[in-house]
Amino acid sequence: QTIYLKDYRPFAYIVDDVHLTFKLADTATRVISRTSFRPNTDFPGEFFLHGQDIKLISAKVDGVEVSPKVTSEGLTCDVPDKPFVWEAEVEISPSTNTALEGLYMSGGMYCTQCEAEGFRKITFYPDRPDVMSVFTVRVEGDYPVLLSNGNPVASGNGWAEWHDPWPKPAYLFALVAGNLVAHPSSFTTMSGKDVDLNIYVRPGSDEDKCAFGMEALKRSMKWDEDVYGREYDLDIFNIVAVDDFNMGAMENKGLNVFNSSCVLASPETSTDANFERIEAIIAHEYFHNWTGNRITCRDWFQLCLKEGLTVFRDQQYTGDQGSHAVKRIEDAITLRSRQFREDGGPLAHPVRPESFIEINNFYTITVYEKGAEIIGMLKRLVGDTEYYNALDLYFKRHDGDAATIEDWLQVFEDSTGRDLTQFKRWYSQAGTPRVTVTDDFRDGSYTLNFAQETPPTPGQDEKHAQVIPLAVGLLSENGDEVVPTTVLEMTESTQSFTFDGLATKPVPSILRDFSAPVILQRQQTSAERAFLMAHDTDPFNKWDAGDALAMDVLKQIVTKDAAPDAAYLDGVAAIMRDDSLDPAFRSLAVSQPSESEVAQALHDAGTTPDPLAIYHASEALKLAVAQHMQDILPLIMAQYTVDGPYSPDAKSAGKRSLARAALGMLTRLDGGAAAAKTFAEADNMTMQLAGLAGLRMIGKGEDQSQAFRKQWRDDRLVMDKWFGLTVSLAAPENAAQTAIMMTQEPDFDMKNPNRFRAVFGALAGNSAGFHDASGASYTLLGEWLAKLDAINPQTTARMTAAFETWPRYDADRQAKMRAALETLGATSGLSRDTGEMVGRMLGNQ
Ligand code: ARG
Ligand code: ZN
Repeated sequence: QTIYLKDYRPFAYIVDDVHLTFKLADTATRVISRTSFRPNTDFPGEFFLHGQDIKLISAKVDGVEVSPKVTSEGLTCDVPDKPFVWEAEVEISPSTNTALEGLYMSGGMYCTQCEAEGFRKITFYPDRPDVMSVFTVRVEGDYPVLLSNGNPVASGNGWAEWHDPWPKPAYLFALVAGNLVAHPSSFTTMSGKDVDLNIYVRPGSDEDKCAFGMEALKRSMKWDEDVYGREYDLDIFNIVAVDDFNMGAMENKGLNVFNSSCVLASPETSTDANFERIEAIIAHEYFHNWTGNRITCRDWFQLCLKEGLTVFRDQQYTGDQGSHAVKRIEDAITLRSRQFREDGGPLAHPVRPESFIEINNFYTITVYEKGAEIIGMLKRLVGDTEYYNALDLYFKRHDGDAATIEDWLQVFEDSTGRDLTQFKRWYSQAGTPRVTVTDDFRDGSYTLNFAQETPPTPGQDEKHAQVIPLAVGLLSENGDEVVPTTVLEMTESTQSFTFDGLATKPVPSILRDFSAPVILQRQQTSAERAFLMAHDTDPFNKWDAGDALAMDVLKQIVTKDAAPDAAYLDGVAAIMRDDSLDPAFRSLAVSQPSESEVAQALHDAGTTPDPLAIYHASEALKLAVAQHMQDILPLIMAQYTVDGPYSPDAKSAGKRSLARAALGMLTRLDGGAAAAKTFAEADNMTMQLAGLAGLRMIGKGEDQSQAFRKQWRDDRLVMDKWFGLTVSLAAPENAAQTAIMMTQEPDFDMKNPNRFRAVFGALAGNSAGFHDASGASYTLLGEWLAKLDAINPQTTARMTAAFETWPRYDADRQAKMRAALETLGATSGLSRDTGEMVGRMLGNQ
């Protein structure tokens, strides 16, 4: 049933401490709990403990055997009207737990995933984030490594005890047991405390893939001290790599559990993008220790309180490690291609939703990335000093709390004196605001007129004006900056801002640094866009001018079969040639909007997108760009090929990204010669994969693909790349068939989320292939999701979002996409997770 934010009520009991004993056994683990409860006199109510898929063996209240009333959701029991001790023994079966939630097994080891509501699959307990308690855990099992949260207390042969002094909600509980080896190190905190650090992996080839993650962890710990004044608070910090994991990673107190793809790295097996992502995720999970753990969420509607803020912090961190401009562009690309898609479709929801059926369905790009954008806007509005002052107050005031968005905003109101009533709409209003701009110039005065409008979203027909920080700069017609970046604070539906004392009509640069997650709508000539591309002093807008121009060109090719605009070709060639610019920036500047973004833009402009036409337009433009800078491509490749031992640092990665961009273009001209050479000579995964991808992109490289397969057959993370690449670069008409062939490979394993996503995430991402007019890909994905749902509802539900774009397309595709959803929705025994997603997409909820 549906849960509503407005129905929040504190739990009727307070938990003072909990002792857990685990007697590990594959199909019959016993969990013995002893919990001290006392009535919450302010909020009296029923004694209800969550519990799911667990067998109650026995229960006692104050030492006396009781017979609770057990349902599929939990239990109730008569308890005294004073403090009492609850004891229970339950049995669970980790080895048959394929949902990967609660206690489960992966590659022979025991591990847990409790966020959001997985702890109830471990024992009966008030599984809600506002119930915080001190955990003591005893693990018994015949394994060399037995881990839980907090500090180690004692251990012996086949057992270990852990104590976590920091009260925490159950979702931060973790346990790991197995035959593992540690990659150890240590960190001395700012107050001089030594912390033991470990990354645990299974013995074998993973052991030499921990060094980078460990260094990233130490950099993160130092950064949080330097920038936010946050120190680590236990004697030990452990990370464990797990092969079967629904998400990226999890911030359990003192015991982070990671999808192995998000922590293990080596130059031979990981790409530059992998290294960057691993560092960001390690930082993210570490930063949760303060924003998430020390201050947690009152209820799951407040998820963005910890996730938005922690994503914002990891973005700041990544910017500090390399380039803020490049990171901002990367984040904007992600937001505009994926969050705007979600915000504009049937799954649109506010950053703080008001209801849900299954909370796991709300770990979305809206909650995370739009949630981070809100923090960024707040920081821009109040300024850096005020922002860090407010954060100091937040940590001081709410340490140890399960807090809300109201608490968070109150901190900012109190410390800055600002009224954030209207700003708060960013949390409650779904959909992406459209900001249209016109301008006019008279007697030295330049006026920008803005209008904002947010289209209706499911359940929210009416929208109100939001606070939009618009960072604006003005350039003179010879490219000098006559007005440096100024933040205009838009609060009305329509609003004008005037700049006086200008000699000539300036060229505006609007929404610098992507200062708000909005769609800027502005009639602009290609000459003006090209001018900004050449002269804008704001790197984001310099990039964005090129991106917008490329979008115009692609739309023209699709709708009018026009030839690519020379202003665009000259503009990208100039950036490509400009050695004074950061190579990473240059490679982003020559990339083009994704096919999915083009489809969205066409749809927004009232044209039904044809995915195949978009694919051909995109290919045609890439070819035209390549031909236009033919002469410099080999030079750039030579100049930016990084010699010497591989290093994943941002500078080297940036050079490689430019070399790879040049290689991609060259491959369209030379029949694959340069790509084949790159593939053959590469001593790192970044370039090896770039060579292979180039060949596959032009329909070649069958031999190289098989050689790659053979070379890396035993490396599951590299094989995920191979499965993914094969499907994502299959020709549109072969995509479904290619995915089918991948499922027939002996090492295709649908129980492993990484492998399943490699194949079917790639199919959904192969835009023209997924939307092939036959509908074969829709049917195929629907069928596999129905099969996966019986095994792993969480990953299934998440992947159904591939269908969220159905309203964009023509009647025939719409009917086929809806039919696939309806068939999936009619699967017998369908999970609540997938049922909710399908229902929302079909407009039934
Ligand atoms: N809190 C984790 C993170 O952002 C993600 C956990 C998601 N879990 C889930 N069941 N959806 O780092
Ligand atoms: Zn997080």
